[in-house]
Amino acid sequence: MDHFLYRNGVLHAEDVPVPEIADAVGTPFYLYSTATLLRHFALFDEALDGLDHLVCYAMKAASNQAILRTLAQAGAGMDVVSVGEYLRARAAGVPGERIVFSGVGKTANEIRTALEGGIRQFNVESEPEMELLNAVALELGKIAPITIRVNPDVDAKTHAKIATGKSENKFGIPIARAREVYAMAGAMPGLVVIGIDVHIGSQLTDLAPFELAYSKVAELTEQLRADGHDIRRLDLGGGLGIPYERSNSAPPLPLEYGALIKRTVGHLGCEIEIEPGRLIAGNAGILVSEVIYMKSGEDRNFLIIDGAMNDLIRPAMYDAHHDIVPVIQAPAAVEQQPYDIVGPVCESGDTFARQRNMPPLGAGDLIAFRGAGAYGAVMASEYNTRPLVPEVLVHGDQFAVIRPRPSFDEMINRDTIPEWL
Ligand code: LLP
Repeated sequence: MDHFLYRNGVLHAEDVPVPEIADAVGTPFYLYSTATLLRHFALFDEALDGLDHLVCYAMKAASNQAILRTLAQAGAGMDVVSVGEYLRARAAGVPGERIVFSGVGKTANEIRTALEGGIRQFNVESEPEMELLNAVALELGKIAPITIRVNPDVDAKTHAKIATGKSENKFGIPIARAREVYAMAGAMPGLVVIGIDVHIGSQLTDLAPFELAYSKVAELTEQLRADGHDIRRLDLGGGLGIPYERSNSAPPLPLEYGALIKRTVGHLGCEIEIEPGRLIAGNAGILVSEVIYMKSGEDRNFLIIDGAMNDLIRPAMYDAHHDIVPVIQAPAAVEQQPYDIVGPVCESGDTFARQRNMPPLGAGDLIAFRGAGAYGAVMASEYNTRPLVPEVLVHGDQFAVIRPRPSFDEMINRDTIPEWL
Protein backbone atom coordinates (compact mmCIF):
# COMPACT_ATOMS: atom_id res chain seq x y z
CA MET A 1 0.00 0.00 0.00
CA ASP A 2 1.21 3.51 -0.70
CA HIS A 3 -0.08 7.03 -0.28
CA PHE A 4 -0.43 7.97 -3.96
CA LEU A 5 -4.18 7.86 -4.45
CA TYR A 6 -6.75 9.63 -6.59
CA ARG A 7 -9.08 12.06 -4.93
CA ASN A 8 -11.83 13.46 -7.11
CA GLY A 9 -9.94 12.15 -10.12
CA VAL A 10 -6.66 13.90 -9.26
CA LEU A 11 -3.58 11.95 -8.16
CA HIS A 12 -2.47 13.04 -4.70
CA ALA A 13 0.68 12.37 -2.77
CA GLU A 14 -0.71 12.05 0.76
CA ASP A 15 -2.80 15.24 1.02
CA VAL A 16 -1.15 17.21 -1.76
CA PRO A 17 -2.47 17.24 -5.34
CA VAL A 18 0.35 16.25 -7.68
CA PRO A 19 -0.45 19.03 -10.24
CA GLU A 20 0.14 21.61 -7.51
CA ILE A 21 3.68 20.33 -7.04
CA ALA A 22 4.24 20.14 -10.80
CA ASP A 23 3.24 23.81 -11.07
CA ALA A 24 5.64 24.79 -8.32
CA VAL A 25 8.63 22.64 -9.31
CA GLY A 26 8.29 21.95 -13.02
CA THR A 27 8.60 18.49 -14.56
CA PRO A 28 10.08 15.94 -14.47
CA PHE A 29 10.56 15.35 -10.74
CA TYR A 30 10.65 12.54 -8.21
CA LEU A 31 8.04 12.70 -5.50
CA TYR A 32 8.27 10.73 -2.26
CA SER A 33 5.72 10.09 0.46
CA THR A 34 6.91 10.25 4.05
CA ALA A 35 3.98 8.15 5.27
CA THR A 36 4.81 5.37 2.80
CA LEU A 37 8.50 5.36 3.71
CA LEU A 38 7.64 5.12 7.39
CA ARG A 39 5.00 2.49 6.84
CA HIS A 40 7.40 0.26 4.93
CA PHE A 41 10.12 0.67 7.51
CA ALA A 42 7.63 -0.18 10.28
CA LEU A 43 6.52 -3.33 8.41
CA PHE A 44 10.07 -4.69 8.55
CA ASP A 45 10.64 -3.51 12.09
CA GLU A 46 7.44 -5.20 13.26
CA ALA A 47 8.16 -8.35 11.24
CA LEU A 48 11.29 -8.85 13.37
CA ASP A 49 9.51 -8.07 16.61
CA GLY A 50 10.72 -10.39 19.37
CA LEU A 51 14.22 -10.64 17.90
CA ASP A 52 17.06 -8.31 18.83
CA HIS A 53 17.29 -6.54 15.49
CA LEU A 54 18.20 -3.50 13.43
CA VAL A 55 16.71 -2.64 10.05
CA CYS A 56 19.60 -1.08 8.10
CA TYR A 57 18.04 0.69 5.12
CA ALA A 58 20.10 0.03 1.96
CA MET A 59 20.49 3.67 1.10
CA LYS A 60 21.71 2.94 -2.42
CA ALA A 61 17.99 2.66 -3.24
CA ALA A 62 17.27 6.34 -2.53
CA SER A 63 19.80 8.36 -0.63
CA ASN A 64 18.50 11.90 -0.37
CA GLN A 65 19.33 13.13 3.12
CA ALA A 66 15.70 14.01 3.80
CA ILE A 67 14.77 10.37 3.17
CA LEU A 68 17.63 9.15 5.34
CA ARG A 69 16.68 11.46 8.18
CA THR A 70 13.01 10.44 7.96
CA LEU A 71 13.98 6.79 8.34
CA ALA A 72 16.73 7.36 10.90
CA GLN A 73 14.32 9.27 13.13
CA ALA A 74 12.07 6.21 13.03
CA GLY A 75 15.01 4.08 14.26
CA ALA A 76 16.57 2.80 11.04
CA GLY A 77 20.23 2.03 10.66
CA MET A 78 21.90 2.35 7.25
CA ASP A 79 23.67 -0.03 4.91
CA VAL A 80 26.30 1.89 2.93
CA VAL A 81 28.46 0.75 0.02
CA SER A 82 30.83 3.67 -0.42
CA VAL A 83 32.45 6.37 1.64
CA GLY A 84 30.18 8.83 -0.13
CA GLU A 85 27.15 7.02 1.23
CA TYR A 86 28.81 6.84 4.65
CA LEU A 87 29.38 10.61 4.72
CA ARG A 88 25.90 11.27 3.39
CA ALA A 89 24.35 9.12 6.13
CA ARG A 90 26.43 10.90 8.77
CA ALA A 91 25.44 14.28 7.35
CA ALA A 92 21.79 13.22 7.61
CA GLY A 93 22.37 12.55 11.32
CA VAL A 94 22.84 8.78 11.41
CA PRO A 95 25.33 7.78 14.12
CA GLY A 96 28.26 5.56 13.09
CA GLU A 97 27.13 2.75 15.37
CA ARG A 98 24.04 2.35 13.21
CA ILE A 99 25.91 2.14 9.90
CA VAL A 100 27.09 -1.09 8.30
CA PHE A 101 29.61 -0.92 5.46
CA SER A 102 29.02 -3.39 2.60
CA GLY A 103 30.57 -3.67 -0.86
CA VAL A 104 33.22 -5.67 -2.69
CA GLY A 105 35.73 -2.91 -3.32
CA LYS A 106 36.30 -0.82 -0.21
CA THR A 107 39.50 1.21 -0.54
CA ALA A 108 41.97 2.06 2.23
CA ASN A 109 40.67 5.62 2.33
CA GLU A 110 37.09 4.49 2.63
CA ILE A 111 37.99 2.10 5.43
CA ARG A 112 39.97 4.80 7.22
CA THR A 113 37.14 7.32 7.11
CA ALA A 114 34.64 4.82 8.48
CA LEU A 115 36.97 3.55 11.21
CA GLU A 116 37.80 7.06 12.34
CA GLY A 117 34.22 8.27 12.13
CA GLY A 118 32.69 5.23 13.80
CA ILE A 119 31.06 2.21 12.24
CA ARG A 120 28.85 -0.63 13.40
CA GLN A 121 30.60 -3.26 11.32
CA PHE A 122 32.32 -3.92 8.03
CA ASN A 123 30.85 -6.68 5.89
CA VAL A 124 34.06 -8.11 4.47
CA GLU A 125 33.88 -9.70 1.04
CA SER A 126 37.36 -11.12 0.35
CA GLU A 127 40.64 -12.13 1.93
CA PRO A 128 42.62 -9.20 0.47
CA GLU A 129 40.01 -6.83 1.87
CA MET A 130 40.36 -8.51 5.25
CA GLU A 131 44.12 -7.96 5.16
CA LEU A 132 43.75 -4.32 4.18
CA LEU A 133 41.15 -3.71 6.87
CA ASN A 134 43.40 -5.33 9.46
CA ALA A 135 46.34 -3.17 8.38
CA VAL A 136 44.37 0.09 8.42
CA ALA A 137 42.83 -0.73 11.80
CA LEU A 138 46.26 -1.46 13.32
CA GLU A 139 47.67 1.75 11.85
CA LEU A 140 44.86 3.70 13.54
CA GLY A 141 45.12 1.73 16.78
CA LYS A 142 41.58 0.43 16.37
CA ILE A 143 39.89 -2.93 16.18
CA ALA A 144 37.44 -3.29 13.31
CA PRO A 145 34.25 -5.27 13.97
CA ILE A 146 33.54 -7.54 11.01
CA THR A 147 31.16 -10.02 9.53
CA ILE A 148 32.25 -11.95 6.48
CA ARG A 149 29.87 -12.05 3.55
CA VAL A 150 29.39 -15.61 2.47
CA ASN A 151 28.22 -16.58 -0.97
CA PRO A 152 25.76 -19.44 -0.42
CA ASP A 153 25.53 -20.40 -4.12
CA VAL A 154 21.77 -19.94 -4.17
CA ASP A 155 19.79 -18.96 -7.25
CA ALA A 156 17.75 -15.91 -6.29
CA LYS A 157 15.53 -16.32 -9.38
CA THR A 158 15.70 -12.66 -10.27
CA HIS A 159 17.09 -10.56 -13.14
CA ALA A 160 20.67 -11.67 -13.90
CA LYS A 161 22.02 -8.15 -13.37
CA ILE A 162 20.82 -8.06 -9.76
CA ALA A 163 21.40 -11.65 -8.64
CA THR A 164 24.37 -11.85 -6.28
CA GLY A 165 24.25 -15.18 -4.47
CA LYS A 166 25.54 -17.62 -7.08
CA SER A 167 29.14 -18.79 -7.09
CA GLU A 168 29.75 -17.11 -10.46
CA ASN A 169 28.89 -13.69 -8.94
CA LYS A 170 31.66 -11.47 -7.62
CA PHE A 171 30.17 -11.25 -4.13
CA GLY A 172 31.31 -12.77 -0.86
CA ILE A 173 33.42 -15.77 0.01
CA PRO A 174 32.28 -19.23 -1.09
CA ILE A 175 30.44 -20.69 1.86
CA ALA A 176 32.40 -23.90 1.50
CA ARG A 177 35.60 -21.96 2.35
CA ALA A 178 34.07 -19.92 5.15
CA ARG A 179 35.60 -21.82 8.09
CA GLU A 180 39.08 -21.41 6.67
CA VAL A 181 38.59 -17.68 6.07
CA TYR A 182 37.05 -17.13 9.51
CA ALA A 183 40.11 -18.83 11.03
CA MET A 184 42.34 -16.34 9.18
CA ALA A 185 40.21 -13.41 10.36
CA GLY A 186 40.23 -14.72 13.93
CA ALA A 187 44.02 -14.56 13.92
CA MET A 188 44.20 -10.92 12.78
CA PRO A 189 44.75 -8.55 15.71
CA GLY A 190 43.06 -5.57 14.02
CA LEU A 191 39.78 -7.42 13.51
CA VAL A 192 37.10 -8.80 15.77
CA VAL A 193 34.77 -11.32 14.17
CA ILE A 194 31.21 -10.72 15.30
CA GLY A 195 29.03 -12.38 12.72
CA ILE A 196 28.05 -13.53 9.26
CA ASP A 197 26.64 -11.55 6.33
CA VAL A 198 24.69 -12.76 3.32
CA HIS A 199 22.80 -11.06 0.48
CA ILE A 200 21.62 -13.08 -2.47
CA GLY A 201 20.02 -10.56 -4.80
CA SER A 202 17.36 -7.96 -5.34
CA GLN A 203 13.69 -7.97 -6.36
CA LEU A 204 13.12 -11.51 -5.07
CA THR A 205 9.48 -12.44 -5.41
CA ASP A 206 9.73 -15.90 -3.88
CA LEU A 207 10.84 -16.72 -0.34
CA ALA A 208 12.39 -20.11 -1.19
CA PRO A 209 15.88 -18.76 -2.08
CA PHE A 210 15.96 -16.80 1.20
CA GLU A 211 14.97 -19.94 3.08
CA LEU A 212 17.77 -21.89 1.48
CA ALA A 213 20.39 -19.20 2.05
CA TYR A 214 19.40 -18.48 5.66
CA SER A 215 19.34 -22.19 6.50
CA LYS A 216 22.91 -22.44 5.21
CA VAL A 217 23.85 -19.45 7.36
CA ALA A 218 22.27 -21.11 10.42
CA GLU A 219 24.31 -24.24 9.83
CA LEU A 220 27.47 -22.19 9.35
CA THR A 221 26.79 -20.27 12.57
CA GLU A 222 26.87 -23.51 14.53
CA GLN A 223 30.03 -24.70 12.80
CA LEU A 224 31.82 -21.41 13.39
CA ARG A 225 30.76 -21.36 17.01
CA ALA A 226 32.11 -24.88 17.39
CA ASP A 227 35.36 -23.55 15.90
CA GLY A 228 35.47 -20.99 18.72
CA HIS A 229 34.14 -17.84 16.97
CA ASP A 230 31.73 -15.64 18.88
CA ILE A 231 29.04 -15.36 16.18
CA ARG A 232 26.52 -12.99 17.69
CA ARG A 233 25.19 -11.01 14.74
CA LEU A 234 23.68 -12.11 11.42
CA ASP A 235 23.28 -9.60 8.61
CA LEU A 236 20.76 -11.19 6.25
CA GLY A 237 20.95 -8.58 3.48
CA GLY A 238 18.03 -7.12 1.57
CA GLY A 239 16.25 -8.15 -1.58
CA LEU A 240 12.56 -8.59 -0.88
CA GLY A 241 10.72 -7.59 -4.05
CA ILE A 242 7.89 -5.17 -4.64
CA PRO A 243 4.80 -5.33 -6.87
CA TYR A 244 5.81 -3.31 -9.93
CA GLU A 245 2.69 -4.39 -11.78
CA ARG A 246 -0.51 -3.96 -9.90
CA SER A 247 -2.25 -6.45 -12.14
CA ASN A 248 0.23 -9.19 -11.11
CA SER A 249 0.20 -11.21 -7.93
CA ALA A 250 1.99 -9.47 -5.08
CA PRO A 251 5.33 -10.71 -3.74
CA PRO A 252 5.52 -12.03 -0.16
CA LEU A 253 5.01 -9.51 2.63
CA PRO A 254 7.65 -8.38 5.14
CA LEU A 255 5.66 -10.22 7.83
CA GLU A 256 6.09 -13.53 5.97
CA TYR A 257 9.76 -12.72 5.42
CA GLY A 258 10.13 -12.00 9.16
CA ALA A 259 8.49 -15.32 10.01
CA LEU A 260 10.97 -17.03 7.68
CA ILE A 261 13.86 -15.34 9.46
CA LYS A 262 12.55 -16.46 12.83
CA ARG A 263 12.08 -20.00 11.54
CA THR A 264 15.54 -20.33 9.99
CA VAL A 265 17.85 -18.38 12.33
CA GLY A 266 15.68 -17.32 15.28
CA HIS A 267 16.90 -20.15 17.54
CA LEU A 268 20.52 -18.99 17.37
CA GLY A 269 20.11 -16.05 19.74
CA CYS A 270 21.91 -13.71 17.34
CA GLU A 271 21.18 -10.06 16.79
CA ILE A 272 19.57 -9.81 13.34
CA GLU A 273 20.23 -7.11 10.78
CA ILE A 274 18.45 -6.80 7.46
CA GLU A 275 19.25 -4.41 4.62
CA PRO A 276 16.06 -3.72 2.66
CA GLY A 277 16.22 -0.91 0.15
CA ARG A 278 13.68 -1.35 -2.62
CA LEU A 279 10.76 -2.36 -0.46
CA ILE A 280 11.16 0.70 1.74
CA ALA A 281 11.64 3.30 -0.99
CA GLY A 282 10.26 1.75 -4.19
CA ASN A 283 6.56 2.36 -3.83
CA ALA A 284 7.20 5.43 -1.70
CA GLY A 285 8.21 7.35 -4.81
CA ILE A 286 6.84 8.28 -8.21
CA LEU A 287 8.39 10.06 -11.17
CA VAL A 288 6.12 12.78 -12.54
CA SER A 289 6.57 13.80 -16.14
CA GLU A 290 4.71 15.84 -18.74
CA VAL A 291 3.77 14.83 -22.25
CA ILE A 292 5.57 17.06 -24.75
CA TYR A 293 4.08 15.64 -27.94
CA MET A 294 1.77 12.92 -29.07
CA LYS A 295 3.39 11.76 -32.29
CA SER A 296 1.56 9.46 -34.68
CA GLY A 297 3.95 6.94 -36.19
CA GLU A 298 3.23 4.61 -39.07
CA ASP A 299 1.84 1.81 -36.97
CA ARG A 300 1.76 3.25 -33.47
CA ASN A 301 1.38 6.38 -31.41
CA PHE A 302 4.26 7.73 -29.37
CA LEU A 303 3.89 9.75 -26.21
CA ILE A 304 7.07 11.79 -26.07
CA ILE A 305 7.51 12.93 -22.49
CA ASP A 306 9.93 15.27 -20.74
CA GLY A 307 11.34 12.49 -18.55
CA ALA A 308 14.00 10.26 -20.10
CA MET A 309 16.28 7.29 -19.55
CA ASN A 310 18.75 9.56 -17.76
CA ASP A 311 16.06 10.27 -15.14
CA LEU A 312 14.84 6.69 -14.74
CA ILE A 313 17.14 4.08 -16.24
CA ARG A 314 15.45 0.93 -14.99
CA PRO A 315 13.37 0.16 -18.12
CA ALA A 316 16.40 0.62 -20.41
CA MET A 317 18.80 -1.23 -18.12
CA TYR A 318 16.75 -4.12 -16.74
CA ASP A 319 13.75 -4.13 -19.09
CA ALA A 320 11.90 -3.17 -15.94
CA HIS A 321 8.17 -2.56 -15.93
CA HIS A 322 6.79 0.50 -14.15
CA ASP A 323 3.07 1.12 -14.01
CA ILE A 324 2.38 4.49 -15.63
CA VAL A 325 -0.77 6.38 -14.72
CA PRO A 326 -2.32 9.68 -15.77
CA VAL A 327 -2.22 12.29 -13.04
CA ILE A 328 -5.73 13.36 -13.97
CA GLN A 329 -7.88 10.29 -14.09
CA ALA A 330 -9.93 9.73 -17.22
CA PRO A 331 -13.64 9.01 -16.83
CA ALA A 332 -14.26 5.24 -16.64
CA ALA A 333 -16.12 5.28 -19.95
CA VAL A 334 -13.12 6.53 -21.96
CA GLU A 335 -11.53 3.89 -24.11
CA GLN A 336 -7.82 3.21 -23.53
CA GLN A 337 -5.32 3.33 -26.39
CA PRO A 338 -1.90 1.75 -26.82
CA TYR A 339 1.08 4.11 -26.75
CA ASP A 340 4.84 3.73 -26.85
CA ILE A 341 5.98 6.00 -24.04
CA VAL A 342 9.41 7.44 -24.80
CA GLY A 343 11.80 10.16 -23.68
CA PRO A 344 13.63 12.78 -25.76
CA VAL A 345 17.11 11.17 -25.55
CA CYS A 346 18.67 10.16 -28.84
CA GLU A 347 18.59 6.41 -28.31
CA SER A 348 15.88 3.90 -29.08
CA GLY A 349 16.62 2.49 -25.64
CA ASP A 350 15.01 5.61 -24.23
CA THR A 351 11.69 3.80 -24.18
CA PHE A 352 9.71 3.39 -20.98
CA ALA A 353 6.91 1.23 -22.29
CA ARG A 354 5.75 -0.25 -25.58
CA GLN A 355 2.10 -0.46 -26.56
CA ARG A 356 0.96 0.48 -23.08
CA ASN A 357 -2.75 1.06 -22.73
CA MET A 358 -3.50 4.55 -21.46
CA PRO A 359 -6.45 6.90 -21.72
CA PRO A 360 -6.04 9.39 -24.59
CA LEU A 361 -3.22 11.78 -23.70
CA GLY A 362 -1.65 14.78 -25.36
CA ALA A 363 0.76 17.66 -24.89
CA GLY A 364 0.68 19.15 -21.41
CA ASP A 365 -0.82 16.10 -19.68
CA LEU A 366 0.95 14.81 -16.60
CA ILE A 367 1.77 11.15 -16.07
CA ALA A 368 3.33 9.34 -13.13
CA PHE A 369 5.62 6.33 -13.02
CA ARG A 370 4.82 4.23 -10.00
CA GLY A 371 7.36 2.24 -8.05
CA ALA A 372 10.08 4.73 -8.98
CA GLY A 373 11.27 5.60 -5.48
CA ALA A 374 14.04 3.00 -5.39
CA TYR A 375 16.93 3.00 -7.88
CA GLY A 376 15.33 5.98 -9.61
CA ALA A 377 16.85 9.32 -8.64
CA VAL A 378 20.05 7.66 -7.41
CA MET A 379 20.74 6.20 -10.84
CA ALA A 380 19.90 9.40 -12.70
CA SER A 381 22.53 11.20 -14.75
CA GLU A 382 22.91 14.35 -16.78
CA TYR A 383 23.21 12.49 -20.08
CA ASN A 384 22.35 14.75 -23.02
CA THR A 385 23.09 17.67 -20.66
CA ARG A 386 19.70 17.21 -19.13
CA PRO A 387 19.53 18.64 -15.60
CA LEU A 388 19.63 16.08 -12.80
CA VAL A 389 16.00 15.41 -11.96
CA PRO A 390 14.86 17.15 -8.76
CA GLU A 391 13.34 15.44 -5.73
CA VAL A 392 10.36 16.47 -3.63
CA LEU A 393 9.17 15.04 -0.31
CA VAL A 394 5.57 15.17 0.86
CA HIS A 395 4.54 15.00 4.50
CA GLY A 396 0.79 15.22 5.05
CA ASP A 397 -0.32 18.46 3.43
CA GLN A 398 3.21 19.87 3.15
CA PHE A 399 5.82 19.38 0.48
CA ALA A 400 9.43 20.44 0.16
CA VAL A 401 11.98 20.34 -2.61
CA ILE A 402 14.70 18.12 -1.16
CA ARG A 403 17.01 18.43 -4.16
CA PRO A 404 16.52 21.34 -6.55
CA ARG A 405 16.96 21.06 -10.26
CA PRO A 406 20.43 22.40 -11.10
CA SER A 407 20.61 25.40 -13.39
CA PHE A 408 22.33 25.08 -16.75
CA ASP A 409 25.03 27.45 -15.49
CA GLU A 410 25.74 25.15 -12.53
CA MET A 411 25.97 22.18 -14.83
CA ILE A 412 28.11 23.82 -17.45
CA ASN A 413 30.42 25.60 -15.02
CA ARG A 414 31.39 22.31 -13.40
CA ASP A 415 33.70 21.72 -16.36
CA THR A 416 37.08 23.40 -16.45
CA ILE A 417 38.92 24.16 -19.66
CA PRO A 418 42.68 23.56 -19.52
CA GLU A 419 45.00 26.50 -20.01
CA TRP A 420 46.35 25.21 -23.31
CA LEU A 421 42.93 25.63 -24.85
N1 LLP B 1 22.38 -5.19 0.62
C1 LLP B 1 23.29 -5.37 -0.36
C2 LLP B 1 24.62 -5.85 -0.01
C3 LLP B 1 22.94 -5.06 -1.69
O1 LLP B 1 23.84 -5.24 -2.65
C4 LLP B 1 21.65 -4.58 -2.00
C5 LLP B 1 21.26 -4.23 -3.37
C6 LLP B 1 20.74 -4.41 -0.94
C7 LLP B 1 21.14 -4.74 0.36
C8 LLP B 1 19.35 -3.90 -1.14
O2 LLP B 1 18.58 -4.73 -1.92
P1 LLP B 1 17.02 -4.41 -2.11
O3 LLP B 1 16.33 -4.63 -0.79
O4 LLP B 1 16.91 -3.01 -2.54
O5 LLP B 1 16.59 -5.36 -3.14
N2 LLP B 1 19.61 -1.03 -9.48
C9 LLP B 1 18.89 -2.30 -9.41
C10 LLP B 1 18.98 -2.93 -8.02
C11 LLP B 1 20.39 -3.14 -7.53
C12 LLP B 1 20.46 -3.80 -6.19
C13 LLP B 1 21.87 -3.84 -5.69
N3 LLP B 1 22.04 -4.34 -4.36
C14 LLP B 1 17.45 -2.08 -9.85
O6 LLP B 1 17.09 -0.97 -10.19
O7 LLP B 1 16.68 -3.03 -9.89
